[in-house]
Amino acid sequence: MKSLNTQSTVYNDKVVRQFAIMSVVWGVVGMLVGVICAAQLTWPELNLGIAWLSYGRLRPLHTNAVIFAFGGSALFATAYYIVQRTCQVRLFSDKLAAFTFWGWQAVIVAAAITLPLGLNSSKEYAELEWPIDVLITLVWLAFAVVFFGTVGTRRVRHIYVANWFYGAYIIAIALLHVVNNAELPVGWFKSYSAYAGVQDAMVQWWYGHNAVGFFLTAGFLGMMYYYIPKQAGRPVYSYRLSIVHFWALIFTYMWAGPHHLHYTALPDWTQSVGMVFSLILLAPSWGGMINGIMTLSGAWHKLRDDPILRFLIVALSFYGMSTFEGPMMSIKTVNALSHYTDWTVGHVHAGALGWVGLITMGSLYYMIPRLFGQTRMYSVKAIEVHFWVATIGIVIYIAAMWIAGVMQGLMWRAVNPDGTLTYTFVESVKATFPFYVLRLLGGLLYLGGMCIMLWNTCKTAAAGKAAPVAIPALAAHAAPAVSPAAAPARA
Ligand code: HEM
Ligand code: HEM
Repeated sequence: MKSLNTQSTVYNDKVVRQFAIMSVVWGVVGMLVGVICAAQLTWPELNLGIAWLSYGRLRPLHTNAVIFAFGGSALFATAYYIVQRTCQVRLFSDKLAAFTFWGWQAVIVAAAITLPLGLNSSKEYAELEWPIDVLITLVWLAFAVVFFGTVGTRRVRHIYVANWFYGAYIIAIALLHVVNNAELPVGWFKSYSAYAGVQDAMVQWWYGHNAVGFFLTAGFLGMMYYYIPKQAGRPVYSYRLSIVHFWALIFTYMWAGPHHLHYTALPDWTQSVGMVFSLILLAPSWGGMINGIMTLSGAWHKLRDDPILRFLIVALSFYGMSTFEGPMMSIKTVNALSHYTDWTVGHVHAGALGWVGLITMGSLYYMIPRLFGQTRMYSVKAIEVHFWVATIGIVIYIAAMWIAGVMQGLMWRAVNPDGTLTYTFVESVKATFPFYVLRLLGGLLYLGGMCIMLWNTCKTAAAGKAAPVAIPALAAHAAPAVSPAAAPARA
């Protein structure tokens, strides 16, 4: 058994390794379910008449698996990796950290069982029934204690900006989860929301949009602020801008939720507030993106032969694209065309595959060799292939959805001179068929890339060994003020 003293001189990378590996595994599973959903939308008979495999049950399984299992595990892994290295201290509690790992995996397994069984609280991205919600709350509390405990016991005076983003993500998700899941249980597997009617819808989309802002954005920006400077070997372009970026983004996201409820029973002024804040959101989003991309200034040539950097930077391009598109879609007149169409699905996946997926993959490719005492992944060529397969897959997926979405919107609103509809709904479904086939092709490519990553990860893990990484000696970082820009390069 290791002595306490030895323990406190090395980082706790065991939990990082566990979460990192599971992120790759769940990525393959979640995307496979996405591909099955895409195939079912193209050929509905693929549900084989089995209730468990029906689209309505597999769709929430897909969204939960990719967001909470794939994205969530990567967020845990990177938060724990970064907070230790930028605070130069071991995680606050090994036991609680282990609890977050096993607890989170239990949540995922419970989701994978209950969702196909049709047990669903019917709130999007918060479908899980109340006992699982309670477990999520406990895991999240433990996560907060480990993360903030580590920040609180740091040996570096400055709190590096990535930790601010992770901290905001942890606090905001706790708030969103508890408020939106307030419900009255009427049995072990059934509950009713504490809210009714339009209030229920407003709370749900306050949650839903901030799930995008905090689960799918803030933590991943934390990854951006750590792994891009590290991989590029350059300090963050503007540390001042990163602080402005943080506060502006955190403040603005909270108000934009009503753009999901345009032209509904929600009071008109509330919809307009949502629209205005969504438009404002473009500024901090692009400020952050520019800060990330400009970190490469003077080192652009590295993009030519560093596939990991390419993952990270192309992720930012998709982030910029989806955070331009989102504010445009929140304009009521544009939303009148885009809402209910596949344009929304295209927007979602520009963000999900392009931003969340690629930044996660880039960050994992940076971390995994280091977690197994290696200097690089088993096959750099395979990272290269993964990058191109994934990028081509994304472009096919989102282009197909954009064209399909605009076409659907135009077909649904087309009227004849006598006021009757030009097209029946089913005609629009028929016209969408080729685009669904294309989306399936894009999804298959993206999934193929993820399978290559799983293979590369297994090979890297098998070739290396989980050697403990020593925390730099105190004297090396006892200086009172660590240059913030230097922080990632020093860690
Ligand atoms: C192989 C990759 C993927 C494929 C083929 C795929 C496919 C799909 C399909 C077919 C849907 C249902 C669309 C509809 O209801 O019309 C969907 C929804 C969704 N997917 Fe994916 N997906 C993939 C990866 C991802 C990833 C990596 C994420 C997140 C990180 C993600 C997040 C979502 C979300 C949030 C929705 C709900 C969209 C909405 O309600 O408008 N997907 N996906
Ligand atoms: C400035 C940033 C953004 C704004 C203002 C924004 C705005 C919007 C708007 C207006 C919609 C359509 C609502 C509807 O018609 O139903 C939407 C849907 C969505 N967006 Fe964004 N978006 C932004 C960024 C992102 C990013 C970066 C992601 C993913 C990582 C994302 C994920 C989603 C999802 C999952 C939905 C579908 C929700 C649902 O109906 O299930 N958004 N967004």
